[in-house]
Amino acid sequence: MEERLIEILSKDLIQRRVQELAEAIKRDFPEEPLTFIGTLKGAFIFLADLVRAIDKQEVEIDFVRLKSYGLSDKSSGEVIITKDIELEIRGKNVIIVEDIVDSGLTLAFLVEHLNLHHPKSIKTCALIDKKERRKVEVNLDYVGFILEKGFIVGYGLDYAERYRHLPGIYEVIKDE
Ligand code: IMP
Ligand code: MG
Repeated sequence: MEERLIEILSKDLIQRRVQELAEAIKRDFPEEPLTFIGTLKGAFIFLADLVRAIDKQEVEIDFVRLKSYGLSDKSSGEVIITKDIELEIRGKNVIIVEDIVDSGLTLAFLVEHLNLHHPKSIKTCALIDKKERRKVEVNLDYVGFILEKGFIVGYGLDYAERYRHLPGIYEVIKDE
């Protein structure tokens, strides 16, 4: 089976949109300290670009690692934490940074989990909102791009651990 990549979001388009998301976050939280929690591994590049555009206020960064996907491209429907937060988030303004929301199971689970720590607020920020396979309603406060369907890679996103390093976003096409 052959695999091809077709660019759907260019590096420049992504960079522009990430700056806009950072502006929106700054408007909502002017001068307030923010705690960004990224989901490994997929959100590592998005988070890195996003926080570098938020340079006039106090910022903390932490990561979680959640598992719901194996090496295939379909959700197993089950979410487990393999790496939890290390910062104290009680009373803080938390912004969850997700690469892509698909079924919504991962993000719904994470919001519920972080709420147990009594933050002051939780906002959700996803680079891609992929609508077709949504199973649970999740509130997205900041969205980079909406995608109806398809499996995409690049800018942190992988297919079986490949392609995370690409600066653009590509759809993976499999030719039989
Ligand atoms: P959800 O729990 O179904 O919303 O899945 C979210 C996670 O699945 C994301 O954080 C990604 O790690 C992975 N995922 C979902 N769709 C894609 C995709 O198109 N490309 C790469 N990873 C994806
Ligand atoms: Mg992810």
